[in-house]
Amino acid sequence: MPEQSRSVTFKNVSKVYAGGVKAVDGVSLEIVGGSFVALVGPSGSGKSTLLKTVNRLVEPSAGEVLIGDASVAAEPPHLLRRRIGYVFQNIGLFPHMSVAQNVAIGLRLAGQRDTAARVAELLELVELDAALAERMPDALSGGQRQRVGVARALACSPGLLLMDEPFGALDPVTRDGLGKAIRALHDRMGLTTILVTHDMAEALLLADRVLVMAAGRIVADATPRDLLAGKAGAEADALVAVPREQAHRLAELGNPSILPGTGRGTAPAGRGGGGAPQRTRPAESPLHQPAAGPPPRPGEE
Ligand SMILES: Nc1ncnc2c1ncn2[C@@H]1O[C@H](COP(=O)(O)OP(=O)(O)O)[C@@H](O)[C@H]1O
Ligand SMILES: [Mg+2]
Repeated sequence: MPEQSRSVTFKNVSKVYAGGVKAVDGVSLEIVGGSFVALVGPSGSGKSTLLKTVNRLVEPSAGEVLIGDASVAAEPPHLLRRRIGYVFQNIGLFPHMSVAQNVAIGLRLAGQRDTAARVAELLELVELDAALAERMPDALSGGQRQRVGVARALACSPGLLLMDEPFGALDPVTRDGLGKAIRALHDRMGLTTILVTHDMAEALLLADRVLVMAAGRIVADATPRDLLAGKAGAEADALVAVPREQAHRLAELGNPSILPGTGRGTAPAGRGGGGAPQRTRPAESPLHQPAAGPPPRPGEE
């Protein structure tokens, strides 16, 4: 069973890399145990650096990170990391090892010998067919590889899951399916999850709380609902504007009657049309509007 959900606390954490780049600049915040938090922001804003201070892939230049009540610095990194699941883009499965061997590696490092039953359980958890256990990574789809990565990250029942752009290299349908699967795993296992993504729509749809980073600082900290309502400030609003506007355009495509006037059917302004497109104001179409979703998706992979 997983460890009890643990909180993560950042106390005035900064990181200055050799060469003088201040990647993280005095971040203080507490992530409640059991919550699913998304860390969003443009490339280079310090998301990965902040995340890596939790499992000590990065040592802060100043400040402290705690898991529960204990400083992460109190324990040797290899022991700390056994209790923290870590999934990143292009997960880096060992190419010369089977799926089962890849999933079992953390268990073996922790001294377990008989891992077959646990591996079977983990593959089931991430909804991978048991027959895949003996496959080599290069015989898997991108989505399947990421699922193996998630199984490996959860092998030692970590309780805390860190994910850095885990869906970045996947096609949109696979990405959506895997996002939902991760959220379901989070709920079922009572994990504390921190997801780094540059995709605001993904953050809004998966997380309980969204942190927006810019130039090493947290510039917004709000629930998806408050972000969508424009209550989290200008910098967050600029990021929310993109999925909101896309949702609105999809809604227009699916339901021409929401356009003012005679509707899109008679307007020359649709896609590829000659004139400027007619639009209702984005504020009239929140992301969660029923007609805003894309059409039903086929199965993943
Ligand atoms: N190992 C490193 N050495 C020097 N600079 C780095 C290193 N890693 C990241 N940086 C710099 O720190 C800043 C933040 O990087 P990063 O945390 O990777 O941002 P993000 O994940 O938001 O894209 C960037 O300016 C980046 O170039
Ligand atoms: Mg990054």
